[in-house]
Amino acid sequence: MMYSKMVENAQKPSEQRLFLMKGKDVLSAYQFNKEELSVVIDTAAYYEKALVEKRRLRNMEGKIMAALFYEPSTRTRLSFETAMHRLGGSVITIAESLKYQTSSMSKGESLHDSITVVDQYVDVLVVRSPINGSAEIAANAAENPVINAGAGAGQHPTQALLDVYTILKEKGTLEGLTVTLLGDLKYGRTVHSLVDFLLLYGCDLIFVSPKELVMPEDITNKLCNKGIKIKETDNLLEAVKDTDVLYVTRIQKERFATVKEYESVKNSYIVDDTIVKKSKEGMLILHPLPRVNEIAVSVDKYPGAAYFRQAANGVPIRMALLSLTTGNVL
Ligand code: NCD
Repeated sequence: MMYSKMVENAQKPSEQRLFLMKGKDVLSAYQFNKEELSVVIDTAAYYEKALVEKRRLRNMEGKIMAALFYEPSTRTRLSFETAMHRLGGSVITIAESLKYQTSSMSKGESLHDSITVVDQYVDVLVVRSPINGSAEIAANAAENPVINAGAGAGQHPTQALLDVYTILKEKGTLEGLTVTLLGDLKYGRTVHSLVDFLLLYGCDLIFVSPKELVMPEDITNKLCNKGIKIKETDNLLEAVKDTDVLYVTRIQKERFATVKEYESVKNSYIVDDTIVKKSKEGMLILHPLPRVNEIAVSVDKYPGAAYFRQAANGVPIRMALLSLTTGNVL
């Protein structure tokens, strides 16, 4: 685990800040104001410091988290489970794909009923589903906090929080940075959430994607209305010359209507040594993972290739979210 200045200098947030999110759900990135964002970041840094120093934390002892994952996951589910274990709590899990059973779930009814029941067993629920809006359904059914771990092509706020945390650790700041989002901007839920945080910091944005996979118009309109500078292009080589943070995404195969449509765009962009050599000095490369072909393995050796360090940051961020929303702090 990388030990940054931010983690080294981490202080316990004040009592008042620690209870700012108590009882709240985490459904989207746009629900956050800068104060809430900063308390999540500060609490995560404080927890990471405890992890690095091998201090034993027990503030979730006796509490149970339900991980309800109706879509594939490696990092998100396992880092949530690890986070709960690191805080001394326990975990119950459903991990199954709804690919062939979407009929009842897509009506919302059975998700509502499952959540109503599981809510009575646990203290916090973490939900992933292929249906956009599923986190809201879960939150309506549950009295305990619900954390959205990815909902269809909609939002993935906890990933975006760890992305911001990673940029802050690696770059020291977000102010004044140019962030380039690359790949599947249409279906990629991580970028849909990330832009809401980049907006709070006033970053300049470059969107690079195939024409078929551009950022949805409602999102670009929202950003423009808030005065964010956006450049949309299909030329990656040009874009990286001005980029401080390159955020690469996987083409979201599972969201395409037909295999043919996916095949036509699947290898549109590959970040390789040539791209990295032409990029702005010190460019940070992020990816929520899993990677398919979007980043050549040879790029892993660059100091700015931070995607595996980024995945590690999921643990302290999710420790912060679990304890802040349930009010079991530090
Ligand atoms: C992302 C997701 O599930 O949306 N992965 C993750 O949570 N780390 C990105 C992806 O699957 O491409």
